[in-house]
Amino acid sequence: MSTCVKHAYCEFFFDLITFLSVFIGTPGVGKSTLSKELAEKSGLEWLEVGKLATENCCFEEYDSLYQCPVLDEDKLLDLMEDKMTGGGKIVDYHSCEFFPERWFDIVFILRTDNTTLYDRLVSRGYSGKKLEDNIQCEIFQTILEEAQRSYKPEIVHELQSNTPQEMFANLCKISEFVEGWRQSTSG
Ligand SMILES: Nc1ncnc2c1ncn2[C@@H]1O[C@H](COP(=O)(O)OP(=O)(O)OP(=O)(O)O)[C@@H](O)[C@H]1O
Ligand SMILES: [Mg+2]
Repeated sequence: MSTCVKHAYCEFFFDLITFLSVFIGTPGVGKSTLSKELAEKSGLEWLEVGKLATENCCFEEYDSLYQCPVLDEDKLLDLMEDKMTGGGKIVDYHSCEFFPERWFDIVFILRTDNTTLYDRLVSRGYSGKKLEDNIQCEIFQTILEEAQRSYKPEIVHELQSNTPQEMFANLCKISEFVEGWRQSTSG
């Protein structure tokens, strides 16, 4: 592991045309940063679900309390179905509960310490209830528990995401988990 961190990147030798993973976690934990990096290294396609929903108007109404639109889950799932059958994807979204369980080979939950997350969210302009609720979501491990309820425990992996060093270490860990998955499916 230390070798990987020292050299900043792991080499990925994935032949992952069927592989599907999802990165979830509270807003600001670093899902997109890690997904993008992993996509560049592995050749997997990064699917930013929030962006996909916005580009295809997958919203029902506006939630004025949380200052965000409410997702039309059915429309989004219909849109994603075709993409997912192709395999070779890294899905990036804060939640996973409403995705079909059959979609994912591995689920990664990113976690960030409260003070670090607080600073990241404030620097992104979060304040008031939205800021408080997101920090509480991380404190209460809401997304972790959601993943543990929705997927088999052996495919759910928690990753710490506080520093760039941890991000590079996560790339190494991910490559090891993927190798384990590949071996378990090849025999
Ligand atoms: N491991 C890390 N170490 C230090 N900073 C990080 C790390 N991961 C992400 N960041 C920083 O934290 C901020 C949020 O990252 P990012 O946009 O990837 O989060 P996200 O989980 O995708 O958020 P959202 O759910 O809102 O899309 C960015 O400024 C990014 O540079
Ligand atoms: Mg993101």
